[in-house]
Amino acid sequence: MPAMSDTAEFALSRRGVLAGSAASAVAAAAPAETMPQRTPSGATPTMPVRLTVNGEKRELALDPRTTLLDALREHLHLTGTKKGCDHGQCGACTVIVEGRRINSCLSLALQHDGDEITTIEGLGTPDKLHPMQAAFVKHDGYQCGYCTPGQICSAVAVLDEIKRDVPSHVQGDLTAKARFSNMELRERMSGNICRCGAYSNIAEAVADVAGERA
Ligand code: FES
Ligand code: FES
Repeated sequence: MPAMSDTAEFALSRRGVLAGSAASAVAAAAPAETMPQRTPSGATPTMPVRLTVNGEKRELALDPRTTLLDALREHLHLTGTKKGCDHGQCGACTVIVEGRRINSCLSLALQHDGDEITTIEGLGTPDKLHPMQAAFVKHDGYQCGYCTPGQICSAVAVLDEIKRDVPSHVQGDLTAKARFSNMELRERMSGNICRCGAYSNIAEAVADVAGERA
């Protein structure tokens, strides 16, 4: 029977072999041009990413592990998009990518190379608010405001989903044209959490833009 130190040594070297094999497999599978560029020893390797953000072309060199949320906030300084849970559970980080809403904390920036992204800063300006932003102000669709950029981006995309007949779990007949209703809206917005509980006012704001009663 091996001594305790021998067992530990074996466990360590076995772990090292497995980690080495996994790294080699990944390296072998990736084409050379997609591998992170080598940098002087100790520096974090980066990869180029091209994004069109709010209509502006941006080029970044990012650590491949950078989320889209961190790319927007930390590298492009677009801090309107908020980090709530960083785990895909609150919707504070919602942005519109290629016309669809996503949680930017759950997506690597590299996955969006070449994509068109709209953040809250791209929807409107303080002088010229997007109708959804104006409706949130009109209906007091917020209290602390932390969830608001995500709520607004999500709401804009929701109305577009309904227009495009994208089904939801509320519609009985998924082939029928999705009709706007309070239930429908609440289902579609259920990924956007508001800790202040401004849900009723948010629903009124979205219904106002949709031209319906909440
Ligand atoms: Fe992305 Fe909460 S920060 S879902
Ligand atoms: Fe405070 Fe929604 S307004 S979390």
